[in-house]
Amino acid sequence: MLSSSASLCFLMHAAPPPLRTFGWQMSMTVEEAATIWGLQRNRQTGRAQVLPNVFGWDTEEVVTRVERRDGPSLGIVLEEIGSAEDIGLVLVDSCVDGGNAAAASLPLLPGDLMVAVANAGGPALCVEALPYDATIAALGSLDPSQPVELTLRRLVKLPRCAVTLKFAASENRADEQFELLGGMPLRRSILSKGIKLNDPLARRFDAGWGTGDCGGEGTCCTCAVDVIEGTEVLNGQGSQERQMLSKHPSWRLACKASIVNIEQDTRLVLKVAPRQEVDETERDSAFNERA
Ligand code: FES
Repeated sequence: MLSSSASLCFLMHAAPPPLRTFGWQMSMTVEEAATIWGLQRNRQTGRAQVLPNVFGWDTEEVVTRVERRDGPSLGIVLEEIGSAEDIGLVLVDSCVDGGNAAAASLPLLPGDLMVAVANAGGPALCVEALPYDATIAALGSLDPSQPVELTLRRLVKLPRCAVTLKFAASENRADEQFELLGGMPLRRSILSKGIKLNDPLARRFDAGWGTGDCGGEGTCCTCAVDVIEGTEVLNGQGSQERQMLSKHPSWRLACKASIVNIEQDTRLVLKVAPRQEVDETERDSAFNERA
């Protein structure tokens, strides 16, 4: 458990900096970033690591070079979010106006994590998951007359697919909403939210009669959903799925559908168990077609 601590400054605090563009999509403060980063110990190596612990975030690493044109001080304001014994979470808060880091080859951003420091061309010192004092000690051990290379781990917000699940009017149930990422399987993701896809009206495709959940094999149709919006967000149908749902081209078997790799935020609107609202006389023919 990390103990909280007040903001600590490396060098001096300047006036609060304006928000800068963060990642590909948003601005972020160090306080907001602190809610996303998580400090954990690798069970195999015992090494402490700092990684995002919130859904939908990834990281990238950038190396930036800081010249010492304005004297030996780097001019970076660091904030210790918390520490316990030999580990800590220390993030970049800002750069001092006119200081060396403000002119770094790549800008430092609020919420960046410093993972390694080195004199340009020299051996790198790992500072990931070190408490504030140890981080400062590592920076202070570098040759103050030489430029510094900082390896920064940066939060990257992944594009999300905002999913809305609608239910048959007879269920009198409110829509469900959640987010998925590219590559995530539809049925498993929905089940993991505690939402069942088990349409009792479905007839098994493999037997031609009876019902029953096939467990994701693509033969029972209990997981069929009607894609109301966002067809392009889902992978393509296989030939068996297309055949099974030939009477309803807008329907998908959730167990055979997954989110494609998306490059921007998008939407997917689905009707769960759509056969509930299909005319009774159409139901059997809609689900029991064979080649
Ligand atoms: S779970 Fe049986 S077809 Fe999808």
